[in-house]
Amino acid sequence: MIAAADIIITKATHSKLNDINLENIPFGKYFSDHMLEVDYENGAWKTPEIKPYQSLSLAPSTAALHYGQAIFEGIKAYKNAAGEPFIFRPHDNFRRFNISAERMQMPTVPEEIFMEGMRLLIEMDQQWIPSQEDHALYIRPFMFSSDEMIGVRPSENYKFMILLSPSGPYYSAPMRIYVEEQYVRAVPGGVGYAKAAGNYGGAMYATAQAKLKGYDQVLWMDAIEHKYVQECGTMNVFFIIGNSAITPNLNEGTILAGVTRDSAMTVLGEMGLKVEERPLSIEEIIAAHKAGELKEVFGTGTAATISLIRELGYQDYVMNFDVDSWKSAPELKRRLNAIRYGQVADEHGWMYKI
Ligand code: COI
Repeated sequence: MIAAADIIITKATHSKLNDINLENIPFGKYFSDHMLEVDYENGAWKTPEIKPYQSLSLAPSTAALHYGQAIFEGIKAYKNAAGEPFIFRPHDNFRRFNISAERMQMPTVPEEIFMEGMRLLIEMDQQWIPSQEDHALYIRPFMFSSDEMIGVRPSENYKFMILLSPSGPYYSAPMRIYVEEQYVRAVPGGVGYAKAAGNYGGAMYATAQAKLKGYDQVLWMDAIEHKYVQECGTMNVFFIIGNSAITPNLNEGTILAGVTRDSAMTVLGEMGLKVEERPLSIEEIIAAHKAGELKEVFGTGTAATISLIRELGYQDYVMNFDVDSWKSAPELKRRLNAIRYGQVADEHGWMYKI
């Protein structure tokens, strides 16, 4: 068992906080004073260390740089009005991290290293949690293979780390989305459900092509029929059709089981919508749009929170939405924020006190 007392701590001699304004801060650009670092060697995890945020020294032969045995998570910490720090559903991300680790043939990280390391790191750097609405301290746990060896095989050594980045919204304005029919993000039997680094690198070309066409992101379709909706950019996606909130089901292992997705399903149900997890085809979306039944489209994610989609372009058919008239997505966001910033009772037990 690892307890806080077992973590080796080296404190930064100078806080960078005085040099940074936490208001209106971009996503993922700044990092707090400390980071967590733990090595896996000879089949066991070594003692975790919290130390000043610093560069790593890696051999050019480090396996992760060649074959992408690398996974990560995204979690957020918030402060309530009294300034007390909380993390939103960290145990769910911990479980998903180890699901990703297994799929990528990496060792799982023990709960006490992941949770106690994260808790102590945030306790030390809690001054870095922004208080502005839609801002949070983004927590980035990640692990990569660290063998210095370019044979293609699972590594014997790994590094697990946690960084903290005070961040504003990932997508700041309602988005224009291109329905992608040529390139795919994930296939059944692949790694789409894992938070594997390569899933994000592999998405960049198609996203850049969509940007050249004037869009912000792509809506991924299934790899077999190019017919069923999957994810949108780095987010899960929801469509409000009539009184139903519909999001693609996870059965085929091509979609990330988002923690914000799961929270959104709960809250949308509490708002009186019928929540449906099922295959949703682009034909059904277009038919609903033509019938005036497609009310709202939005993405969910830790970084993105709730992001409104103002345009969906599918071949020559472009759907434009008047996002200012929407009720459900803004209300969902309001309710989730009220829980995160401690303005209402946490009836779901989602907020983990530091
Ligand atoms: C998150 O929402 O935490 C993500 O993983 C998206 C991201 C790659 C910034």
